[in-house]
Amino acid sequence: MCGIVGVVSSTPCKTRLIDGLERLEYRGYDSAGVAILQPGVSGEIAKSVGAPRVLREQMVTLESETLENGTVGIGHTRWATHGGVTDKNAHPHQVGRITLVHNGVIENYVELKALLAEKHSESAGSIPHVFSSQTDSEVLSAFLNYLVSEEGFDMDTALQSLPSHIHGTYGLVVIDSEKPEEIWVARSGSPMIIGLGDESNYVASDALALNPYTENFIYLDEGEFAMLAPKSFQVFDAEGNAISKRVEKLPYVSENDGHNGYSSFMAKEIAEQPAVIGRLIRAHLSPSGLKDGSELVALRQKMLGAENIHIIACGTSFNAGLVAKYYFEKYLNIPTSVEIASEFRYRDVAIPPKTVFICVSQSGETADTLAALRKANEAGYQATISLCNVATSSMVRESQGSLMLQAGVEVGVASTKAFTTQLTAFLLLAFALSECEATKKLLLESLFRLPADCESVLNISDEIKDRAAPLFQESQSCLFLGRGEQAPIALEGALKLKELSYIHAEAYAAGELKHGPLALIDDVIPVVINAPGGALTEKLAANVEEVNARGGRFLVFSAPGVDVHSDNQVDIKMPELSLVTAAITYAIPLQMLSYHVTVLRGQNVDKPRNLAKSVTVE
Ligand code: M6R
Repeated sequence: MCGIVGVVSSTPCKTRLIDGLERLEYRGYDSAGVAILQPGVSGEIAKSVGAPRVLREQMVTLESETLENGTVGIGHTRWATHGGVTDKNAHPHQVGRITLVHNGVIENYVELKALLAEKHSESAGSIPHVFSSQTDSEVLSAFLNYLVSEEGFDMDTALQSLPSHIHGTYGLVVIDSEKPEEIWVARSGSPMIIGLGDESNYVASDALALNPYTENFIYLDEGEFAMLAPKSFQVFDAEGNAISKRVEKLPYVSENDGHNGYSSFMAKEIAEQPAVIGRLIRAHLSPSGLKDGSELVALRQKMLGAENIHIIACGTSFNAGLVAKYYFEKYLNIPTSVEIASEFRYRDVAIPPKTVFICVSQSGETADTLAALRKANEAGYQATISLCNVATSSMVRESQGSLMLQAGVEVGVASTKAFTTQLTAFLLLAFALSECEATKKLLLESLFRLPADCESVLNISDEIKDRAAPLFQESQSCLFLGRGEQAPIALEGALKLKELSYIHAEAYAAGELKHGPLALIDDVIPVVINAPGGALTEKLAANVEEVNARGGRFLVFSAPGVDVHSDNQVDIKMPELSLVTAAITYAIPLQMLSYHVTVLRGQNVDKPRNLAKSVTVE
């Protein structure tokens, strides 16, 4: 969740360190810190509450020679797990010889702390470390210091031994003050990547941080650790053996560096949807059907004869899975279940024969979904498949097949283009698996018109800003309702609105209204409804009547010719759209609604409070 950057170089590293942290800011932005060294001369730590930008400004005022000109540095942008958002809890943490930054959670930090206290009480003359933060990471720092200073371990043996002492997860970058010309990195449950440059080597939790400096990367696998110096590096496996690893090329993409004239990443990412959806479709389909080189050809083979599909995900990706259930049961007649990853990973699971497991994730690193995939890989599914946006992610590496979303980097914490490309990918999968010519024709036609359909929806953005967003300016709470595929879209609309605007938002399948939520209805709470037309329109209209009779007020996004009338409603007309892809096209006005409401309320659309983009802790 947090972001890590490390640089070991023969020239000053500060700018690369802070720029890298800013590129990772979407992973956590409550505080940031760096430790910078001039090997053999000095070392200094700077920390501040707030985003890396605040740290950058603070470092200027410090006027420190070491911070300005030091050539070895590690940095961290934090999303708090243990301990509040304070300077003291920000990383790096320094204990004795060890300075480190840490992603992940050390679950047994209380036991480790007790163990350290015991060791100190047994050893005459040893001075116990006085902890200054509330973090598990400082305990990890103290423990590593104990291993190298008191047990006499070299850094490689200390890092190799960590998994036998630690319960939890870590992506770790460490400097030992006795060897200040090198940095060490270790991975156990939290991704770490090495970047190779000229006269400089790098480490980060995400290649995005380093992409302007190098295109050559090494992905550490679980249990591996490495030493980096300016002109050399060495990777070790979990047993401590020196190993050679494949260097992967990741070309620099400048579009990742800013929001290209848009006011925010979210605005940019909403606007990109027609283009990225079109790119995804064209990668797999020609007007006559599936392209020969498509990943779907191999996936169809893996899924051949499947009698059940089980989909696992978190958050928005889970909502995409809920829509996929409608697709797979309607177009393929394959029973499909959808489950939250954090539940699946800890329960006893009964797997019907011939079941395919699909995990869905923008990042491919979400801790619960990754753990679910690992469990599934052990559990005897017909195949494990990931739908993912990051080709180099752990999920893509560890699943038996994958379908890439090709949405481009999504920086806004609120998922937008990843969600609509997930739904598109599910429809592509349905197309690839279908044996029915009529179904294939229907899907092919609808998919090919989808980019233009999405484009036409973007045109109603100003109307949403002017007529819909003001309804929510003072709202404390609101309700989203939908039927059929629009029921999960209602869930997604509510998730988007609550995470960005902090308005309490709930969503229900509209038929559930009278089983409880109807009690919430008054003339204040806005009720948001998508009415794309189709067989369930009359049923939806009846639900609207139930709310109307109790004085409720509505925001309705309806298709031309569809009227779900009530006495107090703002009706926004959608363009003429294909019903087959209505889950995708009708998700877009709800994204735009959240965007405009959040801007109206003066909040940050890219970085909502308490959240981070990539949830790598469980
Ligand atoms: O990277 P993932 O798709 O696995 O992330 C899952 C959720 O954390 C994510 O979708 C989250 O719910 C978003 N902030 C929603 O906008």
